[in-house]
Amino acid sequence: MAILYKEENNVATITFDQPDSKVNILNTSTLLEFEKILDQFKNQSSLKAVIIQSAKKDIFIAGADIKEIENITEVADGKVKSQAGQRIMDKLEDLLTPTIAVIDGVALGGGCELALACQYRIATFNDKVRIGVPEVNLGFVPGFGGTYRLPRLLGLQGALKLILSGTPVDSKTALKMGLVNRLYPQQGLSDRVREFIDETRQFSRKRKYPAIAAKGFNAFLENTGIGRSIVFNKSKETVLKSTKGFYPAPLRAIEVLQKTLSVSRQVALDIESTTFAELAITPISKNLVKVFYLAEKFKKLSVPTAENIVPMRVAKAGVIGAGIMGGGIAQLLSNRGVWVRLKDVNYDAIAKGLKAAYDVYMQSVKRRRMKPSAVAANMAMISGALDYSGFADADIVIEAVVENMDVKKKVFVETSQNISSKTILASNTSSLSVTEMGKVLKDPSKMIGFHFFNPVHRMPLLEIITTEKTSQETLVSTLEFAKRLGKTPIIVKDAPGFLVNRILLAYINEAGRLLQEGDRIERLDKIATDFGMPMGPFTLSDEVGLDVGVKVLHILEAGLGSRFKSCSIFDEVFTLKLLGKKSGKGFYIHGHKRGVNSQVQALVKHNNQTSDEEALKRMIYIMINEAARILEEKVVDEADTVDIGMIMGTGFPPFRGGLLRYADSLGIDKIVKDLEWLESRFKDGRFKPADHLFNLKKNGLKFLER
Ligand code: NAI
Repeated sequence: MAILYKEENNVATITFDQPDSKVNILNTSTLLEFEKILDQFKNQSSLKAVIIQSAKKDIFIAGADIKEIENITEVADGKVKSQAGQRIMDKLEDLLTPTIAVIDGVALGGGCELALACQYRIATFNDKVRIGVPEVNLGFVPGFGGTYRLPRLLGLQGALKLILSGTPVDSKTALKMGLVNRLYPQQGLSDRVREFIDETRQFSRKRKYPAIAAKGFNAFLENTGIGRSIVFNKSKETVLKSTKGFYPAPLRAIEVLQKTLSVSRQVALDIESTTFAELAITPISKNLVKVFYLAEKFKKLSVPTAENIVPMRVAKAGVIGAGIMGGGIAQLLSNRGVWVRLKDVNYDAIAKGLKAAYDVYMQSVKRRRMKPSAVAANMAMISGALDYSGFADADIVIEAVVENMDVKKKVFVETSQNISSKTILASNTSSLSVTEMGKVLKDPSKMIGFHFFNPVHRMPLLEIITTEKTSQETLVSTLEFAKRLGKTPIIVKDAPGFLVNRILLAYINEAGRLLQEGDRIERLDKIATDFGMPMGPFTLSDEVGLDVGVKVLHILEAGLGSRFKSCSIFDEVFTLKLLGKKSGKGFYIHGHKRGVNSQVQALVKHNNQTSDEEALKRMIYIMINEAARILEEKVVDEADTVDIGMIMGTGFPPFRGGLLRYADSLGIDKIVKDLEWLESRFKDGRFKPADHLFNLKKNGLKFLER
């Protein structure tokens, strides 16, 4: 039984409490159990109210069962599943007794839709409360009546905001937008709910969906045909801009609302269930669901061989180097309650790092996510130093000085003389050997790589690099710390370029070769973005800085061989100091006169445009081949790590499911054949299929889903 039922003083309480689970999920059996309870109410006019609540901490209902949705392969089946949910929500909505959802945690998707079908919603001040319909993130639209009830409750604009963003709101926002009727403290909640029930008895019999109270221009937008079409057109425009048309669900959601805003419930729900089912069976939705599982899996990553090890709790950190990364790291740590001592070689550098941290905080203030007083309190957790004072009681030291082995080694020697024996030593290096750095330490078991991505506060991935000497204690503590910082961690063995940069540089270098052969900068960038990459290779190179790119390529070439030799055009552009954004000019001119840098395009001697198909193949297949080598060398232990790393670290398009899921969808045989063909053309080994690919082919296997 997932639902408990109780009646006391003419008030019925329905409590969701899924057995053996931390959360409540609306799967078929729970929904049917709920329906049975609703059916019993039919003749019970004596009841004052029905309360719907959850017994789980910080959870109301987390959503419908994604596994069930994932198994839908036919539109007809999807429609039946959606209609079953809709039927039950209708029964809930049609009860004559007042119904109240008490939301003291997460109410998402189907859980939110269930609450919407209640006459009233009460939320608590619990900061874990999140209410919303994230379905578009999984490639479909709400299917339990959400598209019908939200616009009637919140107005068109509020509903579109919630449905199209897929982003849930906290309880205060929910109250402001009319999604909940009351906000109560957790303490004494049941007394307040009882008072609310008495209050509802004095309410006049209200219409289920009163007209949306809007004034002035808003009333025009909400209540007139022209106003609504303005809202719809604007929404379409915004969606297309942010999704570049790769994600059909938000556009279909707009269509659903357009068709259903003025029709009966029955007609509206029929349109909703058809759209839900049509979207749920698409490969895009299936890929997005897989990426969702992947993200959940890595958020909970653990070290199976070290389950008994208690991670060290990090209270204080030293950060060395107050540059782009050091400033960002200091901000992130202070925001999670960690004291930071930020060290650099002069006060100017420290001031820059502090300003970088402050600027990130002020973006949150601007977006009203943070109060200036909280910023001041967090900034007070960061102090600067030119020496190692304050490092003695640091639990972890994160080094983020320039990417130079000699400098880093010197820093670690100095650091090791100024810390306690329990301090973890982490390097934010993007490509240098962590093992080599560890060699200067008395205790290399404390050494680990902690590779953040730029900008630190926004990029979700954190590569944790282990050496042969890294102890399990160091790894477990660092992993827990990464999770506490809100990052998605992956564990990668120390090898040149680790995981993400190794694959990414293969892609950028191949784009460079295509350019050198006679192609055009903008065209190659467009081919990559048309595939779904967030940035083309040259735009990305300009963002990172060609100095960094070339340096990492040299490290990769030294460690992995000539396939990583930087293409000559990169060397030429680097020599001309056209580094990218940081120098104002790179492959593009930056600033307000942005455009392709003709100086670079003029370096291309030939005019030999490869077909779009071949250019894309070369850029993507070289990544797949490199990923296969990474698996073969056991740099990471599974294909999932590659996929989450590339999605979270580079923005590889989630709708394609990840680099290796995409490879699987193409077919291993085809990839091997195409790689062999490319290798026969270039004959330099870079497209020679990795042994791992041959093995998969021989055994009829895929990277994933074995
Ligand atoms: P940066 O050049 O912006 O900052 C480096 C800072 O280190 C400077 O403020 C410099 O004064 C300071 N520094 C140099 N020697 C020092 C010493 N002996 N003691 C204390 N401070 C010293 O460099 P950035 O970009 O922040 O990179 C730092 C590290 O992070 C590098 O290892 C880099 O590879 C890595 N990284 C950089 C990323 C990026 O996008 N910039 C991304 C991920 C990692």
